[in-house]
Amino acid sequence: KAGALWGGRFAGGPSPELAKLSKSTQFDWPLAPYDIRGSKAHAHALAAAGYLTDDEFVAMVAGLDALVEAVLDGRFQPAESDEDVHSSLERGLIDIVGVELGGKLRAGRSRNDQVATLVRMLLRDKAVALSAHVVDLIDALASQAEAHEHAIMPGRTHLQHAQPVLLAHHLFAHCWPLVRDLERFTDWNKRADFSPYGSGALAGNTLGLDANLVAADLGFSAVVENSIDGTASRDLVAEFAYITAQIGIDLSRLAEEIILWNTREFGFVTLDDSYSTGSSIMPQKKNPDIAELARGKSGRLIGNLTGLLTTLKGLPLAYNRDLQEDKEPVFDSIETLEVLLPAFSGMIATLTFHTDRMAELAPQGFSLATDVAEWLVKHQVTFRDAHEITGALVKHAEQNGLDLHEVDDAALLALSPHLTPDVREVLTITGSVSRRDGQGGTAPVRVAEQRAVLVARVGVL
Ligand code: ARG
Repeated sequence: KAGALWGGRFAGGPSPELAKLSKSTQFDWPLAPYDIRGSKAHAHALAAAGYLTDDEFVAMVAGLDALVEAVLDGRFQPAESDEDVHSSLERGLIDIVGVELGGKLRAGRSRNDQVATLVRMLLRDKAVALSAHVVDLIDALASQAEAHEHAIMPGRTHLQHAQPVLLAHHLFAHCWPLVRDLERFTDWNKRADFSPYGSGALAGNTLGLDANLVAADLGFSAVVENSIDGTASRDLVAEFAYITAQIGIDLSRLAEEIILWNTREFGFVTLDDSYSTGSSIMPQKKNPDIAELARGKSGRLIGNLTGLLTTLKGLPLAYNRDLQEDKEPVFDSIETLEVLLPAFSGMIATLTFHTDRMAELAPQGFSLATDVAEWLVKHQVTFRDAHEITGALVKHAEQNGLDLHEVDDAALLALSPHLTPDVREVLTITGSVSRRDGQGGTAPVRVAEQRAVLVARVGVL
């Protein structure tokens, strides 16, 4: 039991089976730099309360600085016998400063308040890093929108041709959920801005340590109001996992469209060679693997969130060892997005759009029928009648193998006296798009405004 953080009341060390089960260094090691920053802040609080002399404090901080360097360059690694990152680092500190001084650091803290704090610190850094990746993706989508500002595509509902829209409008529609994901991180951070350090095992500590001093040293605005909540809650970890899952879902919906657009049948996009893959047997193949992996990995991100919530369900207060299971899922979600997002952004940035093909398909499937109905409304027909008349026009065109604009004057008038030849003025896709000029509509003038608002919201594009 040499080096363990507990053992005084035990006859011997843990069984090998227990040690193996209990061990967490294989996944909690990313917390090591945060653990050491926490230890420096805690040493500060111990010194301020008179438990370390000035000399001891200086030596402790120097020891911790040496330890973090050894951790970062890989000279110091967790040993097989270390239970977790916290015990491993205490062993490392004692190696450097000796047991006399190193043994003083643990006073007034518990791994329970430590780990709750360190996970928050790591997640706060990762919120910033992931946000930067999300901004890059928004940037790639917005650049494509700008490069094709006049392109018109078939807008769909139920995957059927519905009404023509600007490609830019469609691409921006994928940006807004990502903007909200960025805002979710910012909003989450307001709740994560409270330090649990000082909560001890669950009830606080008797040593009169200044938790606000520790919080300030660690970049938190304040200390948690309740030590039980500080050590037992993991809702902030679950909320973070939700944001990562939501990003995964936002990517997956776009991925599905890329996969469809990239088929021969759609022919809307061509993937860049460096962002697509081949087949080991079919020499002609060029596959959208990034989009497929994005779709697949969204399942994994949802699984991580679900697993975490399931771990928390029914857990009594305060700390229970179950809570050690919070780290693997959320760390995996972070790593997944750190790999996925740059690949996805690269795929978007290098997509070639076939705007002629989109424009050719945009009016097909009678997608201008609503324009006819609304033209009739402007000519004093009730919408109920306009819908009927236009429906009859669509039926006539379909039966005769015509597009709406190909129906001749006599046939139009036979369908309804309201259908004068002037109706053809609304039967172009550019006209259709520019007439949808209400707030949030697909008219070019509105889409240009939308872009400006989007850029302002992201603030960095
Ligand atoms: N490794 C634990 C965790 O991640 C912290 C240790 C708490 N252990 C304990 N026996 N109270 O939650």
